[in-house]
Amino acid sequence: MSFQSSRSGERRMDSTKQATRVTPQSLLAQKQAGAAITALTAYDYPTARLVDEAGIDIILVGDSLAMAVLGHEDTLSVTLEEMLHHARAVRRGVQRAMLVVDMPYGSYQVSVEDTLRNALRLVKESHAGAVKLEGGGAQAERVRALTAAEIPVFGHIGLTPQSLLRAGGYHVQGRSEAAAMQLIEDALVLEQAGAVAIVLEGIPRELAAHITSRLTVPTIGIGAGPDCDGQILVFHDLFSLSFGHPAKFVRPFGDAAALVRAGLEEFRAAVESRSFPSDAESYHMPESVSLELAVPQAEGAR
Ligand code: KIV
Repeated sequence: MSFQSSRSGERRMDSTKQATRVTPQSLLAQKQAGAAITALTAYDYPTARLVDEAGIDIILVGDSLAMAVLGHEDTLSVTLEEMLHHARAVRRGVQRAMLVVDMPYGSYQVSVEDTLRNALRLVKESHAGAVKLEGGGAQAERVRALTAAEIPVFGHIGLTPQSLLRAGGYHVQGRSEAAAMQLIEDALVLEQAGAVAIVLEGIPRELAAHITSRLTVPTIGIGAGPDCDGQILVFHDLFSLSFGHPAKFVRPFGDAAALVRAGLEEFRAAVESRSFPSDAESYHMPESVSLELAVPQAEGAR
């Protein structure tokens, strides 16, 4: 599947996915048809265009922005304003995919009213198609309030990176029977509250498969095995652009870092050897203009 550029510069898709925007309803239809849902993060305009043009169904402006792009240690410090800044850029690059924007830490660990106010800002100012928030049954009231305000909500359970301070690290969740039962209950409560999809992160494959079979709405897995309705990864992990040891569930699909490093070497060498820019890469004066006439002569030369 590919997009083609028309002469006017507008983009169009040339296959079956043409013009059909991804919606909560189309995601549900994908689940019912057993068609895998594809999802990736994006944090800026060029990446969003590439991901959208590749026919990926969901583009998430994740709070992983904090680490992937802003260089923070964890997701906790990214602000609503920063999420909005990047979400607006991503929006300009997306035509077909469903744009989902993460509610950052602190934007919904507050009253229901403030949660709604913050979610409305994300939707109004970035034209997000949905917002995502972390947490299980404890978030049901917020999910209900956002849903009542016509905001589609993605849930996110299992390993929830915003729980870092309480959890003391990033650990696979749901490995005991009690923890697994709790996650199943959380998923059902979120669906009941109105969530249109649920991200399952860092849980055993068997549990993700069970939750997926119990829910009507799609599950999107990350580190949750192959039996979810869809899969999401962080764009920078996909192309080896995250400095650091990748998690077990990350499969690189290209090495953009190596490509960029090689290009940078070449650029530096070309400038240092004065082979860049060449004459062909330079502008020239029209032959009719004589530089000797144009440049004022120095005092002594007159
Ligand atoms: O912030 C993020 O990138 C996420 C994931 C689900 C990938 O929440």
